[in-house]
Amino acid sequence: MGSPHLLSSWQLKDLTLKNRVVLAPLTRARAGVERMPNALMAKYYAQRASAGLLISEATVVSQQGIGWLNSPGIYSDEQAIAWQQVTRAVHEREGRIFLQLWHCGRASHSSFQPDGGWPVSASAIAIQGDEIHTPLGKQPHELPRALATEEVPLVVEDYRRAAARAREAGFDGVEIHGANGYLIDQFLQSKTNQRGDRYGGDCEGRFQFLREIVEAVLTVWPAGRVGVRLSPNGIFNDMGSPDFREMALATAAQLDTFGIGYLHIMDGLAFGFHGLGEPMALREFRSVFSGTLMGNCGYTQETAEAAIARGDGDLIAFGRPYISNPDLVERFTHGWPLASDADMAVWYSFDEKGYADFPAYG
Ligand SMILES: Cc1cc2nc3c(=O)[nH]c(=O)nc-3n(C[C@H](O)[C@H](O)[C@H](O)COP(=O)(O)O)c2cc1C
Repeated sequence: MGSPHLLSSWQLKDLTLKNRVVLAPLTRARAGVERMPNALMAKYYAQRASAGLLISEATVVSQQGIGWLNSPGIYSDEQAIAWQQVTRAVHEREGRIFLQLWHCGRASHSSFQPDGGWPVSASAIAIQGDEIHTPLGKQPHELPRALATEEVPLVVEDYRRAAARAREAGFDGVEIHGANGYLIDQFLQSKTNQRGDRYGGDCEGRFQFLREIVEAVLTVWPAGRVGVRLSPNGIFNDMGSPDFREMALATAAQLDTFGIGYLHIMDGLAFGFHGLGEPMALREFRSVFSGTLMGNCGYTQETAEAAIARGDGDLIAFGRPYISNPDLVERFTHGWPLASDADMAVWYSFDEKGYADFPAYG
């Protein structure tokens, strides 16, 4: 089947993307306890370099931000240098790759914290339900401590430093991870932000943390090389706020004033929906955001093509299909069948099996 829209090039400010297919950020936990990018990761990303844009797995900006076993970091010079083998491998195949900047906030555990203290968040509200995989095995979520007002700029500075290291590492840009119930989302959402200081209150107050992060990152990167990811419909990490629509539209409108490269919305419901109203659709963001709009979550070749043809979005990110189909673009181009979904057991396993060993078609 033809996909003339999905497979056409796109101008992301000064960057020409060869098609509209994006590798969604996918945590794969292959960076070892040192959280160091390695040759195996370079091979994995290079295999997927025919995407118009690759977004790296979520990468922690500080040790405080860690909340996942064996996920990579960008908080040391050694990590920045080690990332160069990944960016080089992607560039050799004429791919483009952004680094996703991550701080888990309350989705962390004291056993990940450098001082053994509590994880931090906007407010002292714990994740209900799910447990977390930690160096001590599976544990219940802990009650986080609210960051003090004067601590917040220190976290912002961690993002700025990480963004600077991403440049040294050779990335083409950065995506600020504001989705899926991690620290930025914890500040944005009324469910998790009950602060009385300038970082809380109405949508504008709750946006202040992200505003300062964007401003800090823009001291390092041109605006066109910066994206932001949001998940207003999502429930992952026990999220979902009654004012989700107002919050997401206000945030997108604020982000538009910075002229950032793209806004990345997990509009699909395939990762869980909180049911607190009509789910947000990608096209709603067109009214408040004038830059490149990226959709994600549960898209197929057909629905992605249709969304772009209708003008709902400009780029579509694919997550799970990319785990077992490194050559997703070629399969779309030639109408080749997709490999069946990878077993969830290999998503975050730490070894080579189920990672860079999915063959291209044919
Ligand atoms: C194994 C796995 C790891 C993921 N890791 C991340 C991540 O690091 N950062 C992020 O923003 N989303 C992450 N996600 C969410 C995906 O980017 C994507 O939103 C989700 O898979 C839905 O898209 P899909 O239906 O195309 O898979 C992850 C999803 C999966 C399945």
